[in-house]
Amino acid sequence: MMSEIARGLAGVVVTETRLSRVDGEAGELIIAGFPLEELAPKATFEEVLYLLWNDRLPNSKELEGLQLEMASFRSIPPATVAILQAAAQRKLSPMDAFRIGVDTLSLSDPNPSENSREANERRAVVILAAAPTIVATYWRLLNGQDPVDPDPNLSHTANYLYMLNAEKPHPDAVRAVETYLNTVVDHGMNASTFSSRVIVSTQSDMFSGIVGAIGALKGPLHGGAPGPALDMVYDIRERANGSGRSIPEEADAYVRDVVSSGGRIMGFGHRVYKVRDPRADVLGAAAEKLFREAGDAQLCEDARAVEEVVVRVLEELKPGRRLQTNVEFYTALVLHGVGMPTDLFTPTFGISRAGGWSAHILEQYDEAVLIRPQSGYNGELGRKWVPLSERK
Ligand code: ACO
Repeated sequence: MMSEIARGLAGVVVTETRLSRVDGEAGELIIAGFPLEELAPKATFEEVLYLLWNDRLPNSKELEGLQLEMASFRSIPPATVAILQAAAQRKLSPMDAFRIGVDTLSLSDPNPSENSREANERRAVVILAAAPTIVATYWRLLNGQDPVDPDPNLSHTANYLYMLNAEKPHPDAVRAVETYLNTVVDHGMNASTFSSRVIVSTQSDMFSGIVGAIGALKGPLHGGAPGPALDMVYDIRERANGSGRSIPEEADAYVRDVVSSGGRIMGFGHRVYKVRDPRADVLGAAAEKLFREAGDAQLCEDARAVEEVVVRVLEELKPGRRLQTNVEFYTALVLHGVGMPTDLFTPTFGISRAGGWSAHILEQYDEAVLIRPQSGYNGELGRKWVPLSERK
């Protein structure tokens, strides 16, 4: 007999992982044993990658080894650059170019059919190292600028900002982006991670798993929300400037407009968190630090004012749904604060989450179970074949 349908798989536990634990009721996120607040503002992204891949922090020699290895894989093959050039001519979105670019990395894989742990760990390093180069190269090509070669003397995060802007980044900007990358690196069985695990559960390869995950991340219900979340704050600000009403008054009207026309407020609500997303706190603190030291401190204040109103009005309009601020809202502030264009928010999320995807893929290979759920059938039964000549 068919069991009850778990639409959207909400609440279904499909596997165990040591990579992260999401407690949606307590609003807690553990990354490989560390409370998020303990890890994200302190670690370098390379340390977090080492932690995910090896289940412990590296010592200084191991960290240096990983940094050197990653730096050696930053350059992307000429074939990848040529494809990114073609994509830029078509003005594809940076997420599409990111997906296509990562796929081409398999061209330089020394032994594509080898599926050993060692070969897959190496692939993980190659993909993570090259991901920022793909995004930065594409962004510059799209904007008619020459790509910037990676600088092996910079850290992973600093080099990403350098390749985007062609100038050495300020340490505060590097710290803010590093905190962001650490914050979103892994998050339980989210849609993109699940996609990657489904793909490699068939014993398919790591490139396929990562490319599929990028596709899943692209949608606005997953990784595509931070741009619109920031646009909303600007929109509300502009309306307030025009009308003379306060930010909270305009935010109140905005939420009512969007929800009454069936829309959603980007950056709010989460499938698992029913209290405030702990990542929002970590990123909110990072944004405030960044804006205090340089930038538009007013934007931070306005965002906080908008947030308060949105949560209150959503509770009134959607009682009991417990729609709270999610990670995307403060992602927008941090990334905007370092001067990153909105179109790069989701690819930057992917540059980080690829760390989680690769670690989950390694776990899934170890688990070695095909993920294959079932579906109920709600179509017709007993149809009779009608020859083409007799069909209306
Ligand atoms: N604004 C307004 N209403 C909302 C919102 C929102 N942001 N989120 C959910 N709702 C409403 C729904 O319309 C629905 O109302 P109904 O019961 O009257 O039909 C109810 O709350 C439950 O919504 P579901 O779609 O069933 O909840 P689900 O768990 O599937 O959705 C999701 C989670 C997709 C994140 C949703 O809250 C959303 O669309 N948020 C906006 C997009 C966003 O911020 N995405 C980033 C998510 S974080 C991340 O992936 C990194």
